[in-house]
Amino acid sequence: MTTITEYMTGVHRHCDEILAELEVAVSEDDWDKAARLSADFLQAMEHHLTMEETVLFPAFEQKTGMIGGPTMIMREEHRQMRELFQQLQWALDGKASGEFLDTTETLLILMQQHNIKEEGILYPMSDQHLGTDAPQVLARMQKV
Ligand SMILES: [Fe+2]
Repeated sequence: MTTITEYMTGVHRHCDEILAELEVAVSEDDWDKAARLSADFLQAMEHHLTMEETVLFPAFEQKTGMIGGPTMIMREEHRQMRELFQQLQWALDGKASGEFLDTTETLLILMQQHNIKEEGILYPMSDQHLGTDAPQVLARMQKV
């Protein structure tokens, strides 16, 4: 059976891959391709963040009683990512490749640090604490 850790780690990798392709498209000045990839990336990321915020984090908080702990930090980092998504969109709309690649670099660092914490701490803790409820929580996440 797939664990929350395995499933969500796979989603992270998928988002990373789209972002890598997007960077290549922008560095090659292929703005049509960049627009398509950017829409895919932002949609995949927003979907991922929403799965966590609406299902996983509340389930984690309810089960562990940890309200001001890991999920609070993750929510704050999601907020920072969304700010960068906005900047990415502006740079894309203005075809400002330098600004776009600067923002991407900042976003990549933030995402890497965020993903390490989720994959190394939050997801394994979720699988562990949710125990027999984990498959049902994962199923609800997959329906978001
Ligand atoms: Fe997250």
